[in-house]
Amino acid sequence: MIVLGIETSCDETGLAVFDSERGLLADVLHSQVAVHAEYGGVVPELASRDHIRFLVPLAAEVLQRSGVDKHALDGIAYTAGPGLIGALMSGAAVARSLAWALGIPAVEVHHMEGHLLAPLLEAEAPEFPFVALLVSGGHTLLADVSEIGHYQLIGQSLDDAAGEAFDKTAKMMGLGYPGGPVLAKLAASGRRGVFRFPRPMTDRPGLDFSFSGLKTYALNTWEANQRRTQDKDQLRADIALAFEEAVVDTLSIKCRRALEQTGSPRLIVAGGVGANQHLRQRLHQLAKKHRFSVSFPRLEYCTDNGAMIAFAGCLRLQAGQFQPLDIDARARWPMEELLPLSR
Ligand code: KG4
Ligand code: ZN
Repeated sequence: MIVLGIETSCDETGLAVFDSERGLLADVLHSQVAVHAEYGGVVPELASRDHIRFLVPLAAEVLQRSGVDKHALDGIAYTAGPGLIGALMSGAAVARSLAWALGIPAVEVHHMEGHLLAPLLEAEAPEFPFVALLVSGGHTLLADVSEIGHYQLIGQSLDDAAGEAFDKTAKMMGLGYPGGPVLAKLAASGRRGVFRFPRPMTDRPGLDFSFSGLKTYALNTWEANQRRTQDKDQLRADIALAFEEAVVDTLSIKCRRALEQTGSPRLIVAGGVGANQHLRQRLHQLAKKHRFSVSFPRLEYCTDNGAMIAFAGCLRLQAGQFQPLDIDARARWPMEELLPLSR
């Protein structure tokens, strides 16, 4: 079964062709970072317009790169939510129109399910059951995953998502967007031990997260020190490192707790913050020490991409799950509403 996947939930237009027999055949990505950079964050209306501009040429490009004729497609998968409604509608409209024109089914994909299944695209795909840590710009959650489509939420952020906290902390120090990669790069020249930030909600039981206080802590540290220092770049780097260490520590502590609580020997990590090298190293060390396995998607499939959508959509289509061709999208979509593949 050959599926074209379309991702447009936020600020990347990602398309890919996945073949259930041969694997991923091609994927293309257009990032809107340049469009939103001057505003310091995503401007929803600009995002929708940019998706509309790039969707059709990118669909032609990904098909050409994959060597698949459009008439050989068995279905079109697209991100139907959660995300920015205008951005989602752009992808939904193109996906469903194309499916209608080709006389093939269109399948809605849940953006977070897409992220969560991305590690399964790798050669050594993790087996079920596993604990999933999903850390993106919009969500931070821990789920107990017994099979595809069966996601039991065991922890989540009560306020900002981890990626959002990276983005806001970077913005407040006058750094670019998205803040995660910028802060992570800066942290490499930070001096360990200059600042120590709290590890929110780790001193009490439970698997929920809260990152908004950490962002305020970073702001206060920045304001208290920036007038006193000659070297603002070093101060930014020291804060970036203290912030990153606090996030990495907090996520690692909760992951270990989640594995203990569920008795699962496997952890998978997905979403944009999963690209953070410090987090990847820390979880690899922990896995070795405490004898659990940890899997990540390759770096380019941590952040938004079409490959994860083509793959998740293909699994749904193979299970006979697809939707009528009216164009629909959801700005909010609880993961608990998803159906297991086996039903
Ligand atoms: O998964 P994603 O592409 O989009 C959402 O679904 O939200 O995640 C984007 C988020 C942004 O907040 C970005 O700052 C963060 O992931 N991010 C990182 C890194 N790369 C991306 N955060 C920390 N370290 C990174 N290397
Ligand atoms: Zn995402």
